[in-house]
Amino acid sequence: MNDLRDKYLAAIAVAADESALEDVRLAAMGKQGEVALRMRELGKMSPEERMVAGPALNALKDEITSALAAKKVALADAALDERLRGEWLDVTLPARPRRQGTIHPISQVTEEVTAIFADMGFRVAEGPQIESDWYNFDALNIPGHHPARAEMDTFYTHRAPGDNRPPHVLRTHTSPVQIRALEAQGAPIRVIAPGRVYRADYDQTHTPMFHQVEGLAIDRDISMANLKWCLEEFVKAYFEVDHVDLRFRASHFPFTEPSAEVDIRCSWEGGTLKVGEGDDWLEILGSGMVHPKVLEAAKVDPTQWQGFAFGMGIDRIAMLKYGIPDLRAFFDSDLRWLRHYGFAALDQPTLHGGLSR
Ligand code: PHE
Repeated sequence: MNDLRDKYLAAIAVAADESALEDVRLAAMGKQGEVALRMRELGKMSPEERMVAGPALNALKDEITSALAAKKVALADAALDERLRGEWLDVTLPARPRRQGTIHPISQVTEEVTAIFADMGFRVAEGPQIESDWYNFDALNIPGHHPARAEMDTFYTHRAPGDNRPPHVLRTHTSPVQIRALEAQGAPIRVIAPGRVYRADYDQTHTPMFHQVEGLAIDRDISMANLKWCLEEFVKAYFEVDHVDLRFRASHFPFTEPSAEVDIRCSWEGGTLKVGEGDDWLEILGSGMVHPKVLEAAKVDPTQWQGFAFGMGIDRIAMLKYGIPDLRAFFDSDLRWLRHYGFAALDQPTLHGGLSR
């Protein structure tokens, strides 16, 4: 019986997997197994012999059964370990490298501008890029004969022959969103409207499609001083500096009165653009107090409400902040340019987290 015991415990110890272990179990404990055969032999023994052999055989049976069970657990553990090792995954690895794709500087700057004005209580408003003549011009106090229409280099759509209504235009500025937002919300209102605009113009500093962000704040007593404060706060936050020089130049727009263009101090020394120093000035926006006729066109009572509006070139301020020399490169879709000037996809600009890291 000791031989049997040694033989099977050894076989169990070396069984390499579950099927080898099952073979050992059948050989020992199966119906035709050696232990079962011994059990059957008990019947042929004398009662005295059986008194000794019976318990010994039962003990052997128990021992082999528990050795089989223990080995089965050990094999299952080993198999699980093996699987875990093979399927191991480091969830702390960084996300895909930014090379996979980047946020375009225009999108980045739009997010930055939105974050800054949102902090001052401005909501985002939108309007269509294909705009009616009325929203783009008339409602903004630019009547049909007004020279501003010619100056704008407007793209017009075609009407069907015989249709004499004025054609639609590709909006030449984001100012029509002033009218649409006022119509939708009325006063008081505080909105910005970023988006694409179009003018038939193409050289080193002009592309036929570019981006503006419109600002509009109307309330009972909003003044030019509020405009100046807002813009100064904006420029400091945007350029992430404590001091920037702004220059307000008296100007003219049909939809604001008075009107001012705003320049920012910069230097081009050594071919690179620096903001906040030097003797050059770069125009970044047009602004002014919203003209009473514009409020009227949007069904807002100009004897009750007043406020400011501005329109800023997004591409312009993107070039200034990120040192991008050529406007046209924005729209060339050159992968090397996009990788160089693009932003990591997971970095959202926020005021608390930093606009541009
Ligand atoms: N719409 C003007 C432009 O495109 C900018 C502007 C907006 C000026 C709002 C005054 C007020 O040049």
